[in-house]
Amino acid sequence: MSSILGISAFFHDSAACILKDGKIIAAAQEERFTRKKHDPNYPHNAIEFVLKYANLRLSEVDKIVFFEKPFLKFERLLETYVAFAPKGFVSFAKAMPIWIKEKLFQKNLLFNKLKQHDQNYKSDQNIFFSDHHLSHAASAFFPSPFDEAVVLTADGVGEWATTTVAVGKNNKLEIKKNSFSTFFRITILSIYILYWFQS
Ligand SMILES: [Fe+2]
Repeated sequence: MSSILGISAFFHDSAACILKDGKIIAAAQEERFTRKKHDPNYPHNAIEFVLKYANLRLSEVDKIVFFEKPFLKFERLLETYVAFAPKGFVSFAKAMPIWIKEKLFQKNLLFNKLKQHDQNYKSDQNIFFSDHHLSHAASAFFPSPFDEAVVLTADGVGEWATTTVAVGKNNKLEIKKNSFSTFFRITILSIYILYWFQS
C-alpha cells in the first residue's frame, strides 16, 4: 500500500487530501474546522482529519506533497517588483521579510508543523513540491474517467505560468506548453504603463 498526503497552504483555502494506492480516501478544507472563510493558514485540523479518516499516522505516510514550488514563485515576485520599481518598494519592503522567513524556508516550516501530528515523524526526506499548474492539472486528470486527455489550466497566478496545456496518459501527466513570461510580462508592463500615466 502506498500513501500520499497532499497539502495546500499559506496562500488561500488551505486544505489536505490523502490518497491510498492512487485513490482519494479523504479531503478537507481548513476553513470547515476553523470557521474562518478561505483560511490560508497551515491546515492542521484538515490534516488531522484526513489522517484519522484514512487510519494512518503521519509517520506511516509515504510521500507528502506541497501544491507549489516556493522558490519559483519567489523568482516571479522579485521580477514583478523590479518591473514596478521604484513604486512597488513599500509593498516589496513589507512582503520580503515574510517571504524570506516563511516561504523560502517553507520545507523547514512545513516539517516543523508536520512534526506536531506525530512524534515518530522524524525526517523531511518525503516532502516534495509540485508545480502549481501541474497540481491543478493533476487534480482534474487523475480523478477523471479518462485514460488519456489534454488538460488546460487557466489560473490567476502560479509560480510563473498563468495558463498551461498538459497531456495526461495513464499514470503520467506532463505540461507541454505554458503561457509564462510573455503573457505575464506584457500584463505587468501594461499595468505599469497605465499606472504611470494615471499618477
Ligand atoms: Fe491556482
